[in-house]
Amino acid sequence: MTFDVERVRRDFPALDEGIAYFDGPGGTQVPRQVGEAMAQVMTSGISNRGQVTAAERRADEVTVGARQAVADLLGCDAGGVVFARSMTQATYDFSRALAKEWDEGDEVVVTRLDHDSNVRPWVQAAGAAGATVRWVGFNRETAELTVDDVRGQLSGRTKLVAVTGASNVLGTRPDLTVIAEAVHDAGALLYVDGVHLTPHAPIDVAAFGADFYGCSPYKFFGPHHGIVVAAPELLERIHNDKLLPSTDAVPERFELGTLPYEMLAGTTAAIDYIAGLASDAPDRRSRVLESMRAVEEYEEGLFARLLEGLRGIDGVTLHGDPKRRTPTAFFSVAGREGREVYEHLAAAGVNAPASNFYALEASRWLGLGDAGAVRAGLAPYTNADDVERLIAGVAEVAK
Ligand SMILES: Cc1ncc(COP(=O)(O)O)c(C=O)c1O
Repeated sequence: MTFDVERVRRDFPALDEGIAYFDGPGGTQVPRQVGEAMAQVMTSGISNRGQVTAAERRADEVTVGARQAVADLLGCDAGGVVFARSMTQATYDFSRALAKEWDEGDEVVVTRLDHDSNVRPWVQAAGAAGATVRWVGFNRETAELTVDDVRGQLSGRTKLVAVTGASNVLGTRPDLTVIAEAVHDAGALLYVDGVHLTPHAPIDVAAFGADFYGCSPYKFFGPHHGIVVAAPELLERIHNDKLLPSTDAVPERFELGTLPYEMLAGTTAAIDYIAGLASDAPDRRSRVLESMRAVEEYEEGLFARLLEGLRGIDGVTLHGDPKRRTPTAFFSVAGREGREVYEHLAAAGVNAPASNFYALEASRWLGLGDAGAVRAGLAPYTNADDVERLIAGVAEVAK
């Protein structure tokens, strides 16, 4: 089965308005199938999880089903899938729980490439525990972050390293597998922000060597909530604050309060949707991997044209040029504020905002201050016509 973008586009009612959406890195549009699955759960007989009534069993099936769907998406154990309100929320929760074991003089490593959700929770938790924060920079020209950059900040006191799977502004994909090896050699844990990587590549958390891996379904066609996965044995060793009557079982003890069943159903539907993008293999994990390989290849081709088009415009500066990247461009136009470019494009029906996109450290590190630059990211529903409209819009505002 091949990837057919026009078939995919027909599933997205939002595209009927004629907008070219390049703001997928901020959240993708949603296919009809996901909206329907959520509505169906909202209005079906459902109550708290249990096994006595049909309504209880339905809530249970939705939850267990969503954990399995995430396991098929990420290549992890379904018993280690933790649902949260957002990735930010989950990271704050884990940072506080893990920091209970940190002492004065212990060290935590964060990067200047990461979204602030994988920086500030660690900086603040370290501060509260008296631990030291060590910073990993990245190459300002290429935007690459290497294992040597990470290694330079490791020591015998390192407790945890937080690193992104892909930068949500520059697209950089650090080599997680080699970074994980270095982190584990130092006896530390690796917390990976996979929010921007997950929509663009086949994911294998075990192969990456990530101890924790976070992602957000609203970046891959699903609803607005967050996920962090880890091995159940690792979760067993972490003791978070929780209510007295709530279960101590893993992963439930990390999911404070009642889960949003309609969101979980939406996430399962989004993963089923991804699985069907370009594969009819017999099991869902294989379908996900095949489809994501096809998405990666499709987006790579389209992105090459986007880069070529932007590079051909006088006055456009593309920030970073990493070898391994997601199809996400971060650029400035000489003599124009990012906001002007953003508004000009919006008036032409092309959505590509300008901001630091919460990658605040990266924006400052690049000398772009807090204003950042314009970001154009591809999604599987982006077509060649969208890309030409973006290039034409930028060319006009650059005149
Ligand atoms: C790379 C990256 N990490 C983390 C987040 C935060 O995700 P959430 O909104 O689920 O907290 C985002 C959101 O834009 C992101 O792009």
